[in-house]
Amino acid sequence: MKPNSLRELYVEQLKDLYDAEHQIIKALPKMIDAAQTGELKDALNEHLDETKEQANRLEQIFKDLGEKPKAEKCKGMQGILQEGNDLVSEIKDDNVRDAAIIASAQRVEHYEISGYGTARTYAELLDQPDAAELLQQTLNEEEEADQVLTNLAEDINREAVSEDGAEEAEEEERRSRSSRTRRAA
Ligand SMILES: [Fe+2]
Repeated sequence: MKPNSLRELYVEQLKDLYDAEHQIIKALPKMIDAAQTGELKDALNEHLDETKEQANRLEQIFKDLGEKPKAEKCKGMQGILQEGNDLVSEIKDDNVRDAAIIASAQRVEHYEISGYGTARTYAELLDQPDAAELLQQTLNEEEEADQVLTNLAEDINREAVSEDGAEEAEEEERRSRSSRTRRAA
């Protein structure tokens, strides 16, 4: 259905967000399994619980609007999650993988922050203060989750950098060994 009014556009946005939350609920356990840093696992686990609650909030909003909660494929979120999953599954080093999980999770959060900001503003314009309040609550949680990830990244990215140092040293060692072998030959 093509939206022809702000109300219809609002409902479309809610369906998109509803689908995005369900995709995240499905994707997070895999990210939690892949994470090795305890704090990162905990943060993602906590956000999984929050995400379930966020989906419930959207159901409440649909109900108040007299609409059936319906998901409409959020292709943007699908792409972000697919890209994150592909990247994370290719990385062998634990610290670098954790850094990639954070990078991917923050893309998810920023995408949601944008969607919830819009939906909250539409709810205000359409005189739906209860919905605006619920959407604002979720928006706050997404922003907090993003901040937690930024804080974790500060340590984890540094660990990943020192991994680069270790790899360079190994590479240097390999190079000098092979030049020694060539000289000996
Ligand atoms: Fe969310």
